[in-house]
Amino acid sequence: MNIVSDRIKNMAESATLAMAAKAREYKAKGINVISLSLGEPDFKTPQHIQDGAKKAIDEGKYFAYPPVNGYLDLREAIAEKFKKENGLNYTPDQIVVSNGAKQSIANIFQAIINEGDEVVVFSPFWVSYSALIELAGGVPVLVKGGIENDFKVTAEQFEAAITSKTKAMIFSSPCNPTGSVFTKPELEAIAKVVLKHENLVVVSDEIYEHINYTGAHASIGALPGMLERTATVNGMAKGFAMTGWRVGYIGAPTWLAKACNKIQGQFTSANCSIAQRAALTALTSDLEPTRQMTKEYLRRRNLVKELLDQIPGFKTNMPQGAFYFFPDVSAYFGKSDGTTTVKDADDLAMYILENAHVSVVTGGAFGDPDCIRLSYAASEEELREAISRMKTTLAKLQ
Ligand SMILES: Cc1ncc(COP(=O)(O)O)c(C=O)c1O
Repeated sequence: MNIVSDRIKNMAESATLAMAAKAREYKAKGINVISLSLGEPDFKTPQHIQDGAKKAIDEGKYFAYPPVNGYLDLREAIAEKFKKENGLNYTPDQIVVSNGAKQSIANIFQAIINEGDEVVVFSPFWVSYSALIELAGGVPVLVKGGIENDFKVTAEQFEAAITSKTKAMIFSSPCNPTGSVFTKPELEAIAKVVLKHENLVVVSDEIYEHINYTGAHASIGALPGMLERTATVNGMAKGFAMTGWRVGYIGAPTWLAKACNKIQGQFTSANCSIAQRAALTALTSDLEPTRQMTKEYLRRRNLVKELLDQIPGFKTNMPQGAFYFFPDVSAYFGKSDGTTTVKDADDLAMYILENAHVSVVTGGAFGDPDCIRLSYAASEEELREAISRMKTTLAKLQ
């Protein structure tokens, strides 16, 4: 029997998780696969955050269901962080803590989308945006930023994509998969467009906020008139190496925060009590461990750029944040090693996995089928070895 709903049948599988599963299959066969496909810090959660969780367990006070939107002291700490670091004045009841930023984004789309509503997605985009929009009954409208503009969508492009059905726009900065960072003037131009349209909400995914090499993270919600029009998404996963703890959060206008709270109350209730205490420790401690990790990512960014530039046919931007490269690899399309012909980025990602034993993700999943994504959240040794293997393997394609 298979009575899976059409909604779920039609839903795209997460391409990054699918590629990671393929890489695991190879590893199980004893093949030494280097995985550059997952968006996961390779650092451990800093010790003081782990200790915060242990202390919470020992205190014996955190066994019951927490409030659906998160403990008040955590929401106060998030409100304080938003004010201090981002110039965003949310009150604690405008904060909703969820099981990762992924759930935060899912809540928002469930809260605002009616059947057939459109959401403008700045592309290349993080794989889950379109699936979560569709799951809510919406239509993702992809607007593509090209490599010549550092993969960034312009305000003019954005404006041209807005119709009477547009409910929202979503983008990430720093961006997964391109590493692009929107500057304040670029965000001002986008905000100007938003403010021309009465019922349009921005979903600003700032989960890579701390992994930013420009030293200047700008939040669109902090621009004049934008706080009431913006849901700011953030979380602990990337900047604090806490992917497994599953803590994400939003700051949003009250009506939206309330709606997200309502959905979450039916879906999952609050997220794990101990994870919330760990997040509180992280947000109220010195950010030095985060700064150290970012420093290391920057060093690897520079190394990987240098190494990728030595692979003929790879065109890259210079990522200013996050931990990904998104090379345009279209120069290889139509090439063959005599046995296998590579048609597109899907084929190339598979060719690299099968022949170089390096897992990367096809760019098609992120809205640009000319590219592949590779993560440099891996050790220097792994990065050197992986890129060297890729170079040797790709040289066989003529
Ligand atoms: C751009 C972006 N947003 C959100 C998330 C989800 O974060 P979380 O692990 O907190 O659900 C990710 C994770 O890869 C991401 O890359």
